[in-house]
Amino acid sequence: MDGSRLKGVILAGGSGTRLHPLTRITNKHLLPIYDRPMVTYSIEAMVAAGVSELMLVTGGTHAGEFFRLLGNGHEYGIDRLFYAYQERPGGIAEALSLAERFVNREPVIVMLADNIYEQSLRSVFENFDRQGGGARVVLSEIDEAEHLRHLGVPELDAGRIARIVEKPADPPSMMAVTGVYCYDETVWDVLPTLEPSGRGELEITDVNNWFVEQGTMEYDVVDGFWGDAGESIDAYYAVNDFVRAHGANKALA
Ligand code: DAU
Repeated sequence: MDGSRLKGVILAGGSGTRLHPLTRITNKHLLPIYDRPMVTYSIEAMVAAGVSELMLVTGGTHAGEFFRLLGNGHEYGIDRLFYAYQERPGGIAEALSLAERFVNREPVIVMLADNIYEQSLRSVFENFDRQGGGARVVLSEIDEAEHLRHLGVPELDAGRIARIVEKPADPPSMMAVTGVYCYDETVWDVLPTLEPSGRGELEITDVNNWFVEQGTMEYDVVDGFWGDAGESIDAYYAVNDFVRAHGANKALA
């Protein structure tokens, strides 16, 4: 994988219902985190880790605001920025499927635009490069089981992911699968086979479990803070407080 042309996809669609009424008047990823719009943190994370070509997938009634904010992406260090429009919030995996022609069966890094990391993701992408195919996810240790009931949670067995359970009533570990996913070209063969989940969405966890079943899923565990700013209004403010005090996307010493 040539770092100079590593491709990234940022997913910024969805309906953001957990942040209503704020998300009735704008897209969740345009809300501020400390001193700038949320989506700029995922762009910064991708660029700092070596991504130069990016597709932003969004939807809803505020999609035009992303053009005004990001333009051609050059100000953010993106060489080429593409946009896709998701007609309805059909799930993370559906949003990803809109990037198929952009990615063109090359390795891809996918990031959810409401996820904020304290530390740089560069080592994750380097590890994926060394892995030479398959998929890679990023785990974060979580203190409260209640929190895990809103996330994807891996069952770990002898240092490998045995399966991932989406929003488990009874979490199989104290780790969360965070919103950064690295995939090889087989992801485009899996996406068309997905069936909508109970919440009517194409789930990224089903994609990840396909790679688990193939035996090609690897993972890293994040150093430092990780937050999903879209999880609840309290999570949104917790992420704001953290970033204001400590910053985000910091290069490892
Ligand atoms: O934040 C990490 C969690 O993200 C993972 O632990 C879960 O396994 C994963 O399913 C996801 O869970 P959420 O319930 O937080 O996903 P949410 O519906 O909030 O969507 C996350 C982002 O994906 C959202 O900020 C924008 C994008 N998205 C989502 C949907 C449903 C789209 O672009 N289009 C969509 O249709």
